[in-house]
Amino acid sequence: MYKITVVAGDGTGPEVMAEAKKVLNKTADVFNIKFEFNDYLIGGIAYEKFGTPLPDVTVKAAKDSDAVMLGAVGDWKYDTLPPEVRPEKALLGIRKELNLFANLRPAIVWEELVSSSPLKPEIVSGVDIMIIRELTGDVYFGEPKGVEVINGKKTGFNNMIYNEDEVRRIAKIAFETAMVRDKKLCSVDKANVLDVSRLWREIVIETSKEYPEVELSHMYVDNAAMQLIRAPKQFSTIVTGNIFGDILSDEASMLSGSLGLLPSASLSDKGVSLYEPIHGSAPDLTGKDIVNPIATILSGAMMLKYSFKMDEAYKTIENAIQEVLKEGYRTKDIMSEGKTLVGTKKMGDLIADKIK
Ligand code: IPM
Ligand code: MG
Repeated sequence: MYKITVVAGDGTGPEVMAEAKKVLNKTADVFNIKFEFNDYLIGGIAYEKFGTPLPDVTVKAAKDSDAVMLGAVGDWKYDTLPPEVRPEKALLGIRKELNLFANLRPAIVWEELVSSSPLKPEIVSGVDIMIIRELTGDVYFGEPKGVEVINGKKTGFNNMIYNEDEVRRIAKIAFETAMVRDKKLCSVDKANVLDVSRLWREIVIETSKEYPEVELSHMYVDNAAMQLIRAPKQFSTIVTGNIFGDILSDEASMLSGSLGLLPSASLSDKGVSLYEPIHGSAPDLTGKDIVNPIATILSGAMMLKYSFKMDEAYKTIENAIQEVLKEGYRTKDIMSEGKTLVGTKKMGDLIADKIK
């Protein structure tokens, strides 16, 4: 019996989460386990009720569970709120509260969907990249930060900052991940310009001494952004800081054809991990039963793999998705000629039915 805190959030978050639960419940039946899903509020919907996007009860429940599943947060109607209570703040807050410093974002191109990518099939076919994004440091959390009047001018500033321990722990996760993949790791930084990147590189190189089997390379982030589109198959495991990882993972999602396909796992040293799709709340698509639930379903599968060490169950869900795609079912974001268009719920049903 696993206790899962579910924070579905705003916009289409609840819709995709319902499908993930459906698939996880079916998987639980087949593998003879049980999930207790406990719903809590996060994001704009939490702000409406509690006056804060990340209420204490939600944090407490998250800390007190075996894993957390998150949908998405944010809506235009909250865009005018002060920064401290904006829905996005809840995401950063829960990452920090749970110490989720390692964000794993796999970008895999499913053979069935090669044609959904805006890139040429020969470029994307066979892509299998794991982006490891540091998640609790960098310019996202650095102090000092703010907007102040300096020399008579409004001036905005944030601080890009990492200490050696923060780099070392994410580097270790990256090397460990590379070891169980094909032992190739590319560290992405901006060491030609930024001091913080020079330290990043120094520590990554130092850490590499513990992993002599891993072939380590370094790439500047601007070049990495270009190479991801030009020749993505050169990458296997990528490790990078918070802001570069944010940007590169959205870019990488287009290799697979849709933001609606990419899951993520956010891990801490020990303790509770969190699983969420990398896409946002898509408020314009809310309530229309058209969004793709696959990213959230895969996030649930990652939970089975990383939190509960159920590799076989992970594979079962992945295979189920693959079969449904093979049979030609598509949500709107990945629809192409001759395929069968289905809604969010139907896609969830089809995937759940394949799990046996
Ligand atoms: C992501 C998102 C978040 C981030 C935003 C919504 C705060 O873009 O998870 O990639 O920047 O980390
Ligand atoms: Mg992002």
